[in-house]
Amino acid sequence: MRRLLLLLLLLFVAAVAALLEPSLYSEQDNIRALDNSSLELQLLQSPKCALVEFINYFCGDCRRYAPSFKRLAAQLYNWQRVIEVYAVDCAQERNVRICREFNISSTPTLRFYAPHFQRSEQQLGVAISSLQTESILQQLTELLANITYTHASQPNFAPISSVEAAQALLSSCQTEQLALVHSSVAKRIILELLPWSMLSVRALAQPQLFDSLGLDGNQTKLCIVNCAGQAAALPLANNSVAAYLASISDLLRARGFAPLPALPLSNSSAHSSDEFYLNAEQSALLAHVLHSPPRVYRADLEQAIDKLLHIELPKVRLFQGDSLLALQRLLHLLQLHNPLNRSGKLLLQQLHAFVSCHNASSELSGLALQLRVLQLQQQLPKIFKAQRYVGCVASQPLLRGFTCALWTLFHYLSVQSARAQTLPGGVFLASVHGFVKHFFGCSNCVQHFLAMAERRQLFAVRQRDAEVLWLWQAHNEINQRLAGDSTEDPKFPKQQFPSYSECSNCRESKSQNASWLPSQVLAFLQDFYSEQKLSNYGLPTTNGYD
Ligand SMILES: Cc1cc2nc3c(=O)[nH]c(=O)nc-3n(C[C@H](O)[C@H](O)[C@H](O)COP(=O)(O)OP(=O)(O)OC[C@H]3O[C@@H](n4cnc5c(N)ncnc54)[C@H](O)[C@@H]3O)c2cc1C
Ligand SMILES: *[C@@H]1O[C@H](CO)[C@@H](O)[C@H](O)[C@H]1NC(C)=O
Ligand SMILES: *[C@@H]1O[C@H](CO)[C@@H](O)[C@H](O)[C@H]1NC(C)=O
Ligand SMILES: *[C@@H]1O[C@H](CO)[C@@H](O)[C@H](O)[C@H]1NC(C)=O
Ligand SMILES: *[C@@H]1O[C@H](CO)[C@@H](O)[C@H](O)[C@H]1NC(C)=O
Ligand SMILES: *[C@@H]1O[C@H](CO)[C@@H](O)[C@H](O)[C@H]1NC(C)=O
Ligand SMILES: *[C@@H]1O[C@H](CO)[C@@H](O)[C@H](O)[C@H]1NC(C)=O
Ligand SMILES: *[C@@H]1O[C@H](CO)[C@@H](O)[C@H](O)[C@H]1NC(C)=O
Ligand SMILES: *[C@@H]1O[C@H](CO)[C@@H](O)[C@H](O)[C@H]1NC(C)=O
Ligand SMILES: *[C@@H]1O[C@H](CO)[C@@H](O)[C@H](O)[C@H]1NC(C)=O
Repeated sequence: MRRLLLLLLLLFVAAVAALLEPSLYSEQDNIRALDNSSLELQLLQSPKCALVEFINYFCGDCRRYAPSFKRLAAQLYNWQRVIEVYAVDCAQERNVRICREFNISSTPTLRFYAPHFQRSEQQLGVAISSLQTESILQQLTELLANITYTHASQPNFAPISSVEAAQALLSSCQTEQLALVHSSVAKRIILELLPWSMLSVRALAQPQLFDSLGLDGNQTKLCIVNCAGQAAALPLANNSVAAYLASISDLLRARGFAPLPALPLSNSSAHSSDEFYLNAEQSALLAHVLHSPPRVYRADLEQAIDKLLHIELPKVRLFQGDSLLALQRLLHLLQLHNPLNRSGKLLLQQLHAFVSCHNASSELSGLALQLRVLQLQQQLPKIFKAQRYVGCVASQPLLRGFTCALWTLFHYLSVQSARAQTLPGGVFLASVHGFVKHFFGCSNCVQHFLAMAERRQLFAVRQRDAEVLWLWQAHNEINQRLAGDSTEDPKFPKQQFPSYSECSNCRESKSQNASWLPSQVLAFLQDFYSEQKLSNYGLPTTNGYD
């Protein structure tokens, strides 16, 4: 009995945790969140098709796309008899397995699934190739219409191509109202009329079939038939989908019918701060960070490494060739210059040894990497204890966090690597480039960064100090582009770094446009990102590291 209670309590805690997890969408948006324990089951069991958006909540692209996806989902609410809309957050540790198995290498990714879908090595769903709403609707129309549905309430897209078939349909009289259309956009018309539950719609392959109903096939494109077999041609203003819909719905309304209401507009927004519950711990962190001079927090570096090892890297399906090399370089860099304590350093050392024994002609699966991390960790005292961002704390949900910690980690590594002079010049930036190219999940960030690497000639940088400055400048370019963006945290506005108040001698004058003095900036960065200056604030014990 006690055990059962405990189990129930645990389940309850898990459910509450899932509810409190920041999410871009809610059920009012007609978008259901699925995860590792529900995605495959839902796709397998459902008699409906599915549109799944795979996201990384930390990814600016996904946040910027969310309002558009919500509008799409609201439109698809009208098609709910055939399709459901889901989202899966690949940034959650529990979803690593499914995101790897579904081969999600960038986000946002949209995939279509037929009813009773079962994943296999080769079948991972149909990729939707666009994020433009109308293009998505067109692709979905073709995909949805290519399916034979089993449930009586679901539409039949197969065109009627013989008089016998037309007659058989009329005599079966399955719904009160039957509309027959001949149109190149018949599939879309069938979908858009789904909210009229008393109506079924079928396409006629040839207009001549209207003749068999006593209508003039040369004149008719749309007719409505009752159970007595009486057919009436309906007028059309033009050949557009809208004209067909207007004609039929006018008639149905005149006959006293009403469609299923559209999705009520919900006011839930990706950034609604009022819904966000800043717990006491986060409020305290935020107050501390905002009231302290800018500095680098060890907790953020630890979090970035934690997420890399447990989520971002094991999410990769297969490391081979260039991506294996990128993995080896990244782990080498981390092994050399990470700020973790003894057991953390040991973990990275052993992990680096593990990936290094795979040569260029072999391959390593993300699953094998994941298992290795877990196995190594079991042999060591608990390493990642903080589990919270400190300097990267956000004042609103879904902001900052991982990408902020990642930047912090990269700058820290650049300074450490230049100081230690272990790696040859150029290797540091090549490692960052390899990470972004092969493992960074935000598609836009990757495109921008790779374009910038080319424009700013990343691979021409051979001097270690120049690598530190290259990364600093690149980050400032991104800060400038993102200033004022919807993904900006108002409490942490995007500024050119360091600000005048952080480093007054880094620029020629106080003016916004004043040129930088690179040697001063370098000295500033070396100090700011030095190991001695790391703050332990927010770690489990005040001096949590030996
Ligand atoms: C490689 C990479 C590419 C990205 N590309 C995009 C993109 O294309 N589009 C997009 O929307 N988001 C992108 N992001 C995310 C984005 O840059 C921010 O991380 C995110 O918006 C969170 O911003 P933030 O306010 O927490 O500060 P961040 O920009 O994440 O900065 C974190 C911390 O680094 C320090 N810092 C700031 N500037 C510098 C600098 N120039 N040199 C040294 N230290 C600095 C500050 O202390 C700051 O608090 C990218 C992230 C990375 C790691
Ligand atoms: C989903 O992930 C959680 C946490 O990692 C785990 O406990 C659970 O067993 C997983 N479920 C499935 C079906 O894999
Ligand atoms: C997985 O994704 C990668 C990169 O997008 C692609 O090259 C590869 O063919 C995909 N594999 C499968 C089985 O779909
Ligand atoms: C339609 O479905 C069949 C199998 O049911 C498939 O072979 C075909 O590729 C699909 N066509 C489109 C356009 O999806
Ligand atoms: C429809 O058009 C065809 C050819 O244009 C003609 O032969 C036929 O008689 C027409 N049918 C009707 C019912 O007017
Ligand atoms: C076609 O008819 C519909 C419905 O009457 C109307 O809304 C639409 O503007 C028309 N389109 C064109 C291109 O005339
Ligand atoms: C949404 O907001 C509008 C005004 O902004 C308000 O009138 C409406 O009642 C709100 N709807 C819901 C469901 O909260
Ligand atoms: C690479 O590794 C494979 C097995 O892991 C081994 O068979 C092969 O000889 C190695 N090749 C080289 C060039 O070391
Ligand atoms: C700074 O540069 C911007 C354009 O880049 C210009 O509009 C502005 O006048 C300049 N300000 C100063 C103080 O030079
Ligand atoms: C640091 O490592 C030691 C063992 O090497 C471990 O006992 C200790 O808990 C670690 N501290 C933190 C904060 O991870």
